[in-house]
Amino acid sequence: MSEQQADSGLSWNERVIKEFRANNGRVGGMFEGAPMVLLTTMGRKTGKPHTNPAIYYKDGDRYLVFASNAGRDKNPDWYHNLLESPQVTLEIGTEEGAAKPFATRAEELKGEERDRYWELQCTLDPGFRDYESKTDRKIPVVALQPLDLGGDNERSRMIGQQLIKHHSDLRGELARLRTAIEQALGGDNTDARPAVELTEQLRARCLTYCYGLQMHHIREDGSFSAFEVRYPHLVPAITKLREQHHVVETALAEFEEVLDEGLSGDGGDLERLRGELDRVVAGLEAHFAYEEETLLPALEG
Ligand SMILES: [Fe+2]
Ligand SMILES: [Fe+2]
Repeated sequence: MSEQQADSGLSWNERVIKEFRANNGRVGGMFEGAPMVLLTTMGRKTGKPHTNPAIYYKDGDRYLVFASNAGRDKNPDWYHNLLESPQVTLEIGTEEGAAKPFATRAEELKGEERDRYWELQCTLDPGFRDYESKTDRKIPVVALQPLDLGGDNERSRMIGQQLIKHHSDLRGELARLRTAIEQALGGDNTDARPAVELTEQLRARCLTYCYGLQMHHIREDGSFSAFEVRYPHLVPAITKLREQHHVVETALAEFEEVLDEGLSGDGGDLERLRGELDRVVAGLEAHFAYEEETLLPALEG
């Protein structure tokens, strides 16, 4: 199968993302030569990670992005998502030759500052002036400030505490999920709800778990880039942690495939689901432990 045929099942967004990642942040077509980033935000309704390409303007160490949505009358989803949860992972091309994720915090520019940077962007790229003319909407401008741990021990300690809390939440939810599957399999639930409703609920809970874990790893991958600068001795461990994220991601994708095929509510489906979940759990427990053991001593100073 040719590369082109393999890509034909992808959406426009997915094709741009794939091209971006394969070419150290460069994309052809309508984005040829434009300074591009990928933004990953957390879906405000689903918790699912959403990745979108965007043109940026670099202002000092922060990245400005413009919620133009190509001049449509609605703000793009990523803008609503970051208002709800301002931790945004930014992927950008690097001098090492491969695009890399960075943890950033989003803040919308207001008033005169917003207007000044919007005008500047329209001068640099007149396409934005066209977008503006198509809508009555005042197009938001958002600043993304990369995480910088340079000498800030308090920030590192806070990140360490967050890591422990997220792992504890993820472990707890995983245990509850397994219990729910066991109960559905054992048929010992005194619940009178029909099997279809039960499996639909189980499916929703499994998906929520997948999204939460994916989001946790995507955000960690971004934070790791700041850890590597602040704690160079951790680079080998972080390289290993990034690889483990990749392994978990593959296992999760297979788990989601089982869910996507639909659960009929008979024992066979649930057995398969339990098998796939066990695979995720096995890798995950070891990963959490290794991450805590290697990162926490540095973060806690
Ligand atoms: Fe991790
Ligand atoms: Fe983690």
